[in-house]
Formats: sequence, structure tokens, C-alpha cells
Amino acid sequence: MSVDSQTFSDAYDIGTGIWNPDTKQEVRLGYSRAVILPMCRDHARKFMSVLRLTSNDSVLVVGAGFGWTGECLAQEVPGIAVVNTDNSPWVHSVKGDPETQDIEAAIAATGFEKADPRYAKALAQLDDGLPRSRMTIENEDSLTKASRTRLLSAGSYTHAVTEDVMPWLSDAEAVTLDAAMHLMGATVTHMITPLIDLTRQDPTSNWKSLIDWKRLLPNSNITGTNRNPEVL
Ligand SMILES: C[S@@+](CC[C@H](N)C(=O)[O-])C[C@H]1O[C@@H](n2cnc3c(N)ncnc32)[C@H](O)[C@@H]1O
Repeated sequence: MSVDSQTFSDAYDIGTGIWNPDTKQEVRLGYSRAVILPMCRDHARKFMSVLRLTSNDSVLVVGAGFGWTGECLAQEVPGIAVVNTDNSPWVHSVKGDPETQDIEAAIAATGFEKADPRYAKALAQLDDGLPRSRMTIENEDSLTKASRTRLLSAGSYTHAVTEDVMPWLSDAEAVTLDAAMHLMGATVTHMITPLIDLTRQDPTSNWKSLIDWKRLLPNSNITGTNRNPEVL
């Protein structure tokens, strides 16, 4: 059931608020830092709130994607130690690249010509030309002892967390990953987008209510991406 991150990223189609008034089209982006970072900041603040994170904590983010939530956590809680890991080949193949090409394609798709000053203005708003990832992303799955030993080489973690990973795993995979995380973090927390409306959520994913996730993973904290910070 695991999904490659690129498939996940293709599912995103997010408006930027930048419109071409001539064609009445909005610049829309996929899993792009420009539009996802605000969501990651919100998730980082929820983690801070539910886990009461301080600069004494060390957090392992499993399924970190490009590490944007980890980056926000490090900004929101100065001094906190954050390690990101993701086992997606796509993440590792593009993490060092800027998004300029994708963003330019999205701007051009609205009908803006490259010579139009509004094209350059939109590009400047959406892209700083730097690599997608601003933190190190380890390529570890935590599922073997060797992988966990590498992740633990710098020390232990007060918290091991996932962010929107569980719905892309089968129940058996979720239970296995959760157990592996308990071997690394003093607490384990899964931030999950729950089942909201299957007509609007990819039916191939493993959507459940947060209560059902808690039933499946009773030894871990379960918290939602979509609500005020609270933990089951
Ligand atoms: C749906 S994406 C979420 C990415 C990011 N956390 C976010 O919310 O935007 C799920 C990610 O979890 C990663 N993943 C799944 N199982 C993993 C594992 N055992 N170890 C590390 N990463 C894993 C996938 O490669 C994918 O990039």
C-alpha cells in the first residue's frame, strides 16, 4: 500500500492567489514549498502544542518528505534537535534541486509570457531559487535494526513523530512502523489527516477516524492535521 511520494505530490493542486487577469487563471502548484510551507508551519505549531516541545527535546520526524515541518519546528523551538528521515526515492532525487522549473511552468500555464513583468513578479513571489530541502533528509525506513541504529547514532529522541504517513500505509505496515518508532522515541506521535469524506479523499488510501487510528495504535499519541491541537 505504500505510495511513492511523487504520486502523493501529484495529488496536490493548490491555488497560490496569483492570477492572470487576462486569462482569469490562477497559478496553481503541486507539492511545492511555496504553498506547502504554511501548512507545515501549522503542523509544527500543533506538534509544539500537543507535545509541549522545548529546546531540551530531540525529535525524529519519520516520513518527513523534504523536511519542511522539521525546518519549521527548528525555527519555532530554537535549540530543539530535529532529525528528518524519508525513504522515498523521489524525495532523495529532487531534494537538492530548486523548484524553479515547475513554478515557471505553472506561471506560463496561466498564459503569462516570459517577457511580461508580471511573470517575473510571480516567480519572485513563489521561488527563492534555493533547494527544496533546507535540512538534511536521512534515507532510513526505521524498519530494520541497522536502520534504527544509524538513526540513533547521534543520540536518543524524546519524540518520534510521523506527519501524514499512516493513511498511506496498510494497517499491518502502520503497526510495524509504529512498533519500530517505539524502539527509538520515548514517545511516539502520529499526526494524521483523518477520514473526512471519501468522495473527496483518494479511495485507495487508508482513511480512518482518529479514534480508529488510536484503536490500531493504542500505545501512541494520535493527533489530527485538521483540528485544534488535541491528542488521543
Ligand atoms: C504522504 S507523504 C507525507 C510527507 C510529509 N510528512 C507531509 O506531510 O507533507 C508520506 C511520506 O512518508 C514516507 N514514508 C513511508 N514509510 C516510511 C518509512 N518507513 N520511513 C521513512 N519514510 C516513510 C513516504 O516516502 C512519503 O514521503
